[in-house]
Amino acid sequence: MVSIVITGRGGAGKTTMTSNLGAYFSKKGYRTLLVDGDLYLPKLAFHFGIDNPAYNIHTLLKNPEMRVIDAIYHEPRTGVDILPGSSKLYDVIDIDNKRLRDIVREIQTKYQLTIIDSPVGIPFDTISTFRLAHYQLIVIEVERGPVHSVHRMVENEVIKLKRLGEAYGLQVGVIINKVRESSDKLQDIVDFLEYSVDVPVVGTIPFDYRVPEATNNGIPVVAYNPNARASKAIKEAGGILGEWALGEKRKGFIEGLYSAILSLLHDRRVPAGKKL
Ligand SMILES: Nc1ncnc2c1ncn2[C@@H]1O[C@H](COP(=O)(O)OP(=O)(O)OP(=O)(O)O)[C@@H](O)[C@H]1O
Ligand SMILES: [Mg+2]
Repeated sequence: MVSIVITGRGGAGKTTMTSNLGAYFSKKGYRTLLVDGDLYLPKLAFHFGIDNPAYNIHTLLKNPEMRVIDAIYHEPRTGVDILPGSSKLYDVIDIDNKRLRDIVREIQTKYQLTIIDSPVGIPFDTISTFRLAHYQLIVIEVERGPVHSVHRMVENEVIKLKRLGEAYGLQVGVIINKVRESSDKLQDIVDFLEYSVDVPVVGTIPFDYRVPEATNNGIPVVAYNPNARASKAIKEAGGILGEWALGEKRKGFIEGLYSAILSLLHDRRVPAGKKL
């Protein structure tokens, strides 16, 4: 049983990584739960085409007698289970966000992997769940600019969240998203993060217009278009995360070939972009 909290700056791709890594690990056979911990602006359900979920985290926060399991939605195309937030304004007012920890604690034992999406910046809504989690993934988006200011920006953003995670005993990793950089500059940023900031880079995901296209279709890009550049990079990041956080072993050649053939067959059965 492993729990990962996803944090980072507004719009960096936290919810996108939550939904796509969830879909990746679910396809690999892990029982996976995704929790929308962005309590004031929840958007995770939208990434799976779920509109106005009647039961959700907010109904749980307001009704302590309600069973957590009754607010969980199974998403058949990806196999993930989702604990969504409410999209109604009056539901999100006056909630006790510390109870999120009790809710996650109660339900996470049923899953091999729980991924908790956080709000922008310092994750006040999900901080209570840091006590239950094992890993924190910080999603960053590197804007184009002179190397020096990129280093300063990355340092400023990552160090605070890394310290916060370490204070709760979490192992911390970074995903660099929406990469538009040349590979030289990207390598420089990766080296800076790994050697100067001392945090492992789990993945580098290119900017790819098929990501928002998939979101608009209510399905994570790894399921919508498995061959998109972003999908391939997310799956690679999932592979690294699997080894790092879930103790998976790197596959031997024959085993790797076998699972590549299996996944090709699966992709043929479910053509990209087609809803089941
Ligand atoms: N690799 C990518 N390439 C192109 N667009 C992307 C990529 N990753 C995310 N996006 C787009 O960026 C926007 C923000 O993504 P997302 O909602 O996941 O960010 P967030 O960090 O959760 O934002 P918030 O802080 O508002 O919750 C979305 O429109 C999403 O489709
Ligand atoms: Mg988000």
